[in-house]
Amino acid sequence: MVTKISPVSAVSVAEAAELIRRGEVVGIPTETVYGLGGNAFDGEAVKKIFEVKGRPADNPLIAHVHTGYDLSKIVDYDPPIAQKLREAFLPGPLTLVYPSTGKVSPYVSCGLDTLAVRVPSHEGAQKLLKELDLPVVAPSANLSRHVSPTSAQHVYDDFAGKIPLILDGGECLGGIESTVCDITGEIPVILRPGLITREMIARVCGDCAVYAAEAKAGEKVKSPGVLYKHYSPRCETALAQTVAEAQTLCERAVKEDKRVGVLCESRYTGCFSGVQTFDLGVTAEDMATRLYKLLREAEERLDLLVAVCPSETDGVMAGVLNRLKKAFASKDIPH
Ligand code: TXA
Ligand code: MG
Repeated sequence: MVTKISPVSAVSVAEAAELIRRGEVVGIPTETVYGLGGNAFDGEAVKKIFEVKGRPADNPLIAHVHTGYDLSKIVDYDPPIAQKLREAFLPGPLTLVYPSTGKVSPYVSCGLDTLAVRVPSHEGAQKLLKELDLPVVAPSANLSRHVSPTSAQHVYDDFAGKIPLILDGGECLGGIESTVCDITGEIPVILRPGLITREMIARVCGDCAVYAAEAKAGEKVKSPGVLYKHYSPRCETALAQTVAEAQTLCERAVKEDKRVGVLCESRYTGCFSGVQTFDLGVTAEDMATRLYKLLREAEERLDLLVAVCPSETDGVMAGVLNRLKKAFASKDIPH
């Protein structure tokens, strides 16, 4: 199969919509990361997404809809806090987990009695979703466990020859995946941190909890995806808590003749001489935008990537740290 990359236009959006209607899987831009989109009502299309990504069968998918979509077609109940959160943050990088049974293909939620729904703000995504007027399930468009894609080229690098079309909507400005928030209980619970932060949600709803991923014995995991090692570059990785520790790791790697590089905030790039540096920027938002792009660049050039762990933990940094820790984890771990 030839994989075409087409800039978003009326013609390419119509082509992508037609392919999705026919049960195909298409690369689509969003404001967070690129997705691999298929029709949520079409079980065969949903299965194809799992296959082409190599995604574990117990990791549910997010349904993407346009701003005017009638939610009652896909959810059982619309809790009052959901309404508040939609008004405050949508369209945008927030996914809400609603009570829902049997409305979309059973493969979407992997047996859970909920459905994760997201209304992306990216203009190209909105055009496609409006044209289709269907819920489109779209996991991040990377091979399972590889780094998420923030450009059409990244999607091509992982899926050339496996999907017919990638809609090119430019580089993703958000850079890390949407915040996933469970709204089936009394207070909202963040299952995956992102650009819409716990603090922002608490301001709107009065309170907001963060789900601890460690599955307690006998308890069903709320969001199975959080248990997998994710977002990993293909080179060796090491996460240092301090600049000094990173310097020691680099010196050792240089002695062993390894191509080594450092991923760190702008203020530390001057602390490393003789090794490549990958500059995450100054603010947590910079870091979110750049992280995946830098991880993909680093894996091409290095044997070992050392990261200096940022010390801040609140706000958007919670999402950045979550991805950084998973990318640098050596095996399957919770958060
Ligand atoms: O920003 C994003 O959310 C991107 C773009 C493409 O929209 N999509 C994305 O999808 O990150 P994916 O499949 O890579 O991650 C979906 C996350 C997983 O952690 C999954 O476990 C969780 O959402 N999830 C999906 N449905 C769920 C549900 N019903 N209950 C709890 N967690 C759910
Ligand atoms: Mg993903």
